[in-house]
Amino acid sequence: MLPNTDFTSTAAYKYLTDHFIDIAKTDLKSLFSSDNERFNKFSFQFEDILVDFSKNRITDETLALLIQLARECSLNSAIEAMFNGEKINATEGRQVLHTALRNRSNTPVIVDGKDVMPEVNAVLQHMKEFSDAVISGAWKGFSGKEITDVVNIGIGGSDLGPVMVTEALKSYKTRLNLHFVSNVDGTHIAETLKGLNPETTLFLVASKTFTTQETMANAHSAREWFLAGGAQEADIAKHFAALSTNSAAVAKFGIDTKNMFEFWDWVGGRYSLWSAIGLSIALSIGFDNFIELLDGAHAMDNHFRNTEFEENIPAILALIGIWYNNFFDAETEAILPYDQYLHRFAAYFQQGDMESNGKSTDRNGNIIEYSTGPIIWGEPGTNGQHAFYQLIHQGTKLIPCDFIAPAQSHNPLGEHHQMLLSNFFAQTEALMNGKNYDEVVAELKAAGKSEAEIEKLAPFKVFEGNRPTNSILVKMITPRSLGSLIAMYEHKIFVQGIIWNIYSFDQWGVELGKQLAGKILPELKGNEDVSSHDSSTNGLINQYKAWR
Ligand code: F6P
Repeated sequence: MLPNTDFTSTAAYKYLTDHFIDIAKTDLKSLFSSDNERFNKFSFQFEDILVDFSKNRITDETLALLIQLARECSLNSAIEAMFNGEKINATEGRQVLHTALRNRSNTPVIVDGKDVMPEVNAVLQHMKEFSDAVISGAWKGFSGKEITDVVNIGIGGSDLGPVMVTEALKSYKTRLNLHFVSNVDGTHIAETLKGLNPETTLFLVASKTFTTQETMANAHSAREWFLAGGAQEADIAKHFAALSTNSAAVAKFGIDTKNMFEFWDWVGGRYSLWSAIGLSIALSIGFDNFIELLDGAHAMDNHFRNTEFEENIPAILALIGIWYNNFFDAETEAILPYDQYLHRFAAYFQQGDMESNGKSTDRNGNIIEYSTGPIIWGEPGTNGQHAFYQLIHQGTKLIPCDFIAPAQSHNPLGEHHQMLLSNFFAQTEALMNGKNYDEVVAELKAAGKSEAEIEKLAPFKVFEGNRPTNSILVKMITPRSLGSLIAMYEHKIFVQGIIWNIYSFDQWGVELGKQLAGKILPELKGNEDVSSHDSSTNGLINQYKAWR
């Protein structure tokens, strides 16, 4: 059972409320000038990842109180409950054990009285054999040719993780070309299949439930395209594999269950890239690299589980997030990777975080009166600098940002990487220091502006500064460091959910839209006017019918 504490009724919360009044008046710049040790104190290195959280509006006291908050909310026992396979996803009656998928120490993980590790390892072995055979070319298509292209069909957690990781680790790419189809918009599959040959294409139908409308529609269209390309029903076994928990539905679809890679309902969709859902990753970067990814995540799991909160990186990141969310009223958090390979990282954690902690009912079933999960967004730097950073620097909203960058590039090309990194370092410094009125005036004077011009221009050129950031410097983006990085964010989300007293592993909020779409779909079929909805919905549907 998870603890069940209203964090706003803890002593720590009350102390933090008072403490906030002081910190709100405190300048980050002065926190640095008054403490030479601030960077050493407020940064930790985990393997090849340096997490610097010193440019946050915190002091020793803030951190101590936040950690007290975590203790008062029994975070320790919640962590144990997750790793030990208690049914902490209570609204679905399930364990939350993505950590077992990457439990490389292979210690028993008991689910309903049974160790799941032998099954986990058996699926990994199946993934190894399959991916090795496809990559080596030993696996042949129906006409005897090697597979050249793999299309993963899935959505949400059955798409975003594999897309993000295969993009992030593109420099480890095997000879296979990976494609991802998620959207039910026929354009997605039509455009993807345009350049492909049915003889050399392998489809992975990735769906935990194997009932998701978008995925099933795309899988059926893929099958039709395949059969129209000269293949027979019997050839499907060579070109379709399923990644799912639902073997009955897989068999019904016509996929040979020998080509089914199983996982279990104790794996949440948005936490499933470590499972059979990661088959596209294994095909893309090779099985050994996939294992490295799991190793990296496992190392972070051990750190999270065994490290005191004072030095526990995911816990500290989570608590700092709560500090901004619940005391500074920050509504959003930006994830800003200075690495083109990580261009889907923010999108991945949009689902990871927002589907997990976008909740307004607490674990007692009561409506929550405090703020929970932030809006997650972001794009790679430096592109973002030329788009939305204006608002981060000078807008009216406080936006805590995570800056992520690799020290070593996979593509050292002239001075590109140094230019990229100079921007990475400059941005967090600029956000913290800002530029005050006097500095602006001095700058304008030096540029030869007149007094009148200076007076007119100066207010617009002032940067208030004091804007908080985390800097995450990774030696290099490798399968291992990426695995650790992803697990770090996963655990951050978990900690926040525990403190906000919500269930982070269900997603009832996505159901209503699905239900209504199911009701509307048949109404779109005939030509008669629809009148069963509000006037807006009726009006839109009827105009669609007139125009189609
Ligand atoms: O959007 C809701 C959701 O259930 C996600 O949580 C999940 O990742 C996605 O749909 C896909 O589900 P499935 O893997 O069952 O097709």
